[in-house]
Amino acid sequence: MSNRLAATPNDLRAFWMPFTANRQFKQNPRMFVGAKDMHYTTAEGRKVLDGTAGLWCVNAGHCRPLITEAIQKQAAEMDYAPAFQMGHPKAFELANRLVDISPDGMDHVMFTNSGSESVDTALKTAIAYHRVRGEGQRFRLIGRERGYHGVNFGGISVGGIVANRKMFGTLLTGVDHMPHTHLPGKNAFTRGEPEHGMELADELERIVTLHDASTIAAVIVEPVAGSTGVLIPPKGYLQRLREICDKHGILLIFDEVITGYGRMGTNFAADYFGVTPDIITTAKGLTNGVIPMGAVFVKNEIHDAFMQGPEHMIEFFHGYTYSGNPIASAAAIATLDTYKEEGLFERVAEIAPYWEDALHSLKDAPHVIDIRNIGLIGAIELQPIAGNPTKRAFSAFVRAYEKGVLIRTTGDIIALSPPLIVEKDQIDEIIDTIRTVLGEVE
Ligand SMILES: Cc1ncc(COP(=O)(O)O)c(C=O)c1O
Repeated sequence: MSNRLAATPNDLRAFWMPFTANRQFKQNPRMFVGAKDMHYTTAEGRKVLDGTAGLWCVNAGHCRPLITEAIQKQAAEMDYAPAFQMGHPKAFELANRLVDISPDGMDHVMFTNSGSESVDTALKTAIAYHRVRGEGQRFRLIGRERGYHGVNFGGISVGGIVANRKMFGTLLTGVDHMPHTHLPGKNAFTRGEPEHGMELADELERIVTLHDASTIAAVIVEPVAGSTGVLIPPKGYLQRLREICDKHGILLIFDEVITGYGRMGTNFAADYFGVTPDIITTAKGLTNGVIPMGAVFVKNEIHDAFMQGPEHMIEFFHGYTYSGNPIASAAAIATLDTYKEEGLFERVAEIAPYWEDALHSLKDAPHVIDIRNIGLIGAIELQPIAGNPTKRAFSAFVRAYEKGVLIRTTGDIIALSPPLIVEKDQIDEIIDTIRTVLGEVE
């Protein structure tokens, strides 16, 4: 094992890393030791431009002063308060700030510690909501192929990524899936929302007919599917899902763990697409990725349905030790302040056309078979090496890192989501580096 990393441990065996090729990594570690604004610093002292906002979470850029100070102050003032049957002001202040920016009629929020927990919280809320209204037979959950909803049992059950599901037995029962919306034959190289595929929403009607509407609790989708390679909803698709859910009394959940907090140039993708779901799950950009925290927004009718029975009784038997943790709450408030003071969501709307043109300039680069973009999100899909899927994109990822740009790959797709503070010359650097590495990889 290499011993060249002066600032890092020389024994990497103990940490079983998440979603990582552990053996490859430990032979040739890629170690970050510092970060500021748009850049990481590696253990060797090299700067790496962040083309992915960490993991789609560092929306305001790295080590931003307001957020750092808020965490330091809160850690010294009050580190922890019990989350159950006790409160502290910052969690309430944060909830108020959040419902100020949430879609109309979603005036209540629950806190979690991750996107996965937000998803499982949303699924449980949906099933329990029907039960408290006397429709306990509505237990089915409908997800979508190629959906990613985190890694807990609820999330992988409604999710549609085979590798994340196949190892884990029976998962939740009573789950069905709609088809994904990726139609490269018809929509390749579309800028923004694709023209074709709205009719795929009607597959929900088929599923409703199969199971009967009276057994279905909720449908969950990512408005823009991120982790399976940026699948942008066809024009009219989300509106159609909303209509079908309304017709059958089914709750619609938008998983906005990556699209929430400005990535689309709006507060939420719900605002961008003009479709209001019944529940929104968020995490990541809520605290700028700095402290683990998620938030689940629910429509008022859902919240109100639980507020019954004797007043000394707990209304919803769900929550986490760290729900609304003081330091996470302080970090989130400072994050919202940073977004607002710097007008970062508006900035996305301004820079998105430049981003789009830059991405699509790669159309003639080697191996490229599709390019997709929306907001400050982009994907470049590569022709897989025959018999060796994912290898080409992984090689591109490693080479881009060596050349000073962090990109992310999923399958043979390069997914990009820089911090919302990205400058035009940094967009150029990301695109130029990708062009170079695509010329080099097998
Ligand atoms: C749409 C979506 N939902 C849920 C998650 C899970 O979030 P976490 O990794 O914080 O559990 C992710 C993470 O990428 C996501 O993209």
